Amino acid sequence: MTTLFTNIGSLVTCAGAPHARRGDELGDAGLRSGVGIAVADGRITAIDADATLQRAYPQATGIDCGGRLVTPGFVDSHTHAIFGKPRHEEQELRAAGVGYMEIAARGGGIHSSVRDLRTRTEDDLFALALPRLRRLAAHGTTTVEVKSGYGLSLEDELKSLRVIRRLQDALPLRLIPTFLGAHEIPLEYRAAPRTREEYLALLIDVMLPAVAREGLARFADIFCEPGVYTVDESRRVLTAARAHGLALKLHADELEPAGAAELAAEIGATSADHLAAISEAGVRALAASETVATLLPGTMLFLGKGKQAPARALIDAGAAIALASDFNPGTSPTVNFPLMLTLAVSQLRLNASEALVAATVNGAAAVGGAGEFGQLAHGFSADLALWDAEDHRELPYWYGDHRCIATWVRGSPCHGAVAAGTFPSPAGDPL
Ligand code: NIG
Ligand code: FE
Repeated sequence: MTTLFTNIGSLVTCAGAPHARRGDELGDAGLRSGVGIAVADGRITAIDADATLQRAYPQATGIDCGGRLVTPGFVDSHTHAIFGKPRHEEQELRAAGVGYMEIAARGGGIHSSVRDLRTRTEDDLFALALPRLRRLAAHGTTTVEVKSGYGLSLEDELKSLRVIRRLQDALPLRLIPTFLGAHEIPLEYRAAPRTREEYLALLIDVMLPAVAREGLARFADIFCEPGVYTVDESRRVLTAARAHGLALKLHADELEPAGAAELAAEIGATSADHLAAISEAGVRALAASETVATLLPGTMLFLGKGKQAPARALIDAGAAIALASDFNPGTSPTVNFPLMLTLAVSQLRLNASEALVAATVNGAAAVGGAGEFGQLAHGFSADLALWDAEDHRELPYWYGDHRCIATWVRGSPCHGAVAAGTFPSPAGDPL
């Protein structure tokens, strides 16, 4: 059974090599017009003129795209979507001059989400996360990496990862699960009689083997930052994670430069994320590596930092950059991926094509999926987004707006109901 997407006004394909784009390649979003897309068994089988496709597939079901913009669905390669209550009180504290790390030192921040998550059942967390992921989907995202990391005990981390598995069964979105038991040192291991060394032993000897045994995660991540995990501790945890078959990610050099980006390159991590405080040596190390530099401009905006990762320096040095939302209750409570495109252009000084490639192909590379999704080309997963826009530059331009009409994942509807043969009416409400 073939489906044809026809009457596309402007098509962003991001077609090209099945790996992260860097240098000049980053700016080639593969813009096309006058072509439609044929999809069968969840994959793209042809991109050609509408009339040619209609002749080749006379029995196909048609979806009329109304002369609008079609892009690959966004790959949001960094989220913390499994949490309980929101943390709006901290936003006001920061406005009053109390910093993110100071809030954590007072037992708030991540610790506050940990206390809350530990009181909740798996069913409760599932019910909370489901509409959040639907909201992410409603803004054009078709793949979401989801981290645990607000449990910080064996049982609560496994509970969080099992919720991700249930969400994957319940939603058409593609989810990539990441174990982030090393998000913080839990408070009970920061004071006698327990020690941080005992928590590291729990992570390495108990939690990682249990996560691997149940096949609950594809990646392991760690918050490598002064005041949280040191570079040496991060190396130990990530080396153990790799031995259990997990690929690696780091929260790296988010607030202070500490050599976390260098560690990511050294250890062959799939991505190093945040990087607002990366050093020049860190930039050089990432540029010389295969590690994707994942930039999270929403986080710096929401924290009121007035500082962003040095995106242009990373690009100029030859690093591969991706964009993600960092959706989480503390530092980036947004589901609006197009807003990340706005920040990428206005704050990181990318052009719209660079931002789109960073949000799709390079996001896919940041979750190890660049050969499978993130571009609209023959053989790739049919993960598409249809927009109430005509030009790709409108996506970063209409900032904070909701312009996603519909998405498809593996060729099946994900967000927005679209009847075959009709142009879907622009969605007013994200849900
Ligand atoms: O990516 N930096 C560490 N982790 C999250 C924030 C988590 C939180 O504050 O709840 C981040 O920004
Ligand atoms: Fe994060």
